[in-house]
Amino acid sequence: MKVDDISVCMFDAYGTLFDVAAAVRRCQNAIGSKAESLAQLWRQKQLEYTWLRSLMGRFVDFWHVTGEALDTAMNNLGISDAPLRARLMELYLTLDAYADARPTLERLKGLGLRTGILSNGSRSMLVAASGHAKLDGVLDAVLSVDRIGIFKPHPTVYEMVTQHFDIEAQRVGFVSGNYWDAAAAATFGFQSVWINRLGARREPLPGKLSGEIKSLSELPALLGA
Ligand code: LAC
Repeated sequence: MKVDDISVCMFDAYGTLFDVAAAVRRCQNAIGSKAESLAQLWRQKQLEYTWLRSLMGRFVDFWHVTGEALDTAMNNLGISDAPLRARLMELYLTLDAYADARPTLERLKGLGLRTGILSNGSRSMLVAASGHAKLDGVLDAVLSVDRIGIFKPHPTVYEMVTQHFDIEAQRVGFVSGNYWDAAAAATFGFQSVWINRLGARREPLPGKLSGEIKSLSELPALLGA
């Protein structure tokens, strides 16, 4: 598998460049033994609500969805703690980037590629997180679904990239830690790479991937660099 002749390389944000479990990890002591379940359920509900709202045609931004998902996750696990809720939401704005994120983006810039984020995240969340993680200097574009009012994996989200860079889909590389996102980007026509950090299994979704990696540091080799 190989990624060929791209001039733009776009990245999903959460779970790809930013470690979404980091917020819960930093509150591990306050949450105790339910921390892992909370992290999982929060993320699962967050994604579910984006899909449900997209199907209903009832968009609200990702910050709002993230808060509602956290409320459900905390309720389901019997955690009632308003200061903890506030702290977890605040931490979402200062997530750690994975250690391989910045060096890989620097390398891609060195290869002459344009880089960016394409995310369900609201613009203010993405600007805060990429600034905190010092990724802003190595990103040419931060594209949020806020502008179109529908979440991934709707094809119009991927179309924001071809419009922004005025480029054909096959000249775009796309990297996501979410299998469903990588698959959907491939159906749109991107050369799509799944970063499978946790050794998950592929799922029966349409879309042919151009690559699968375990760390972003494998990306330049996949591009033939
Ligand atoms: C995003 C979520 C899907 O950043 O990870 O778009």
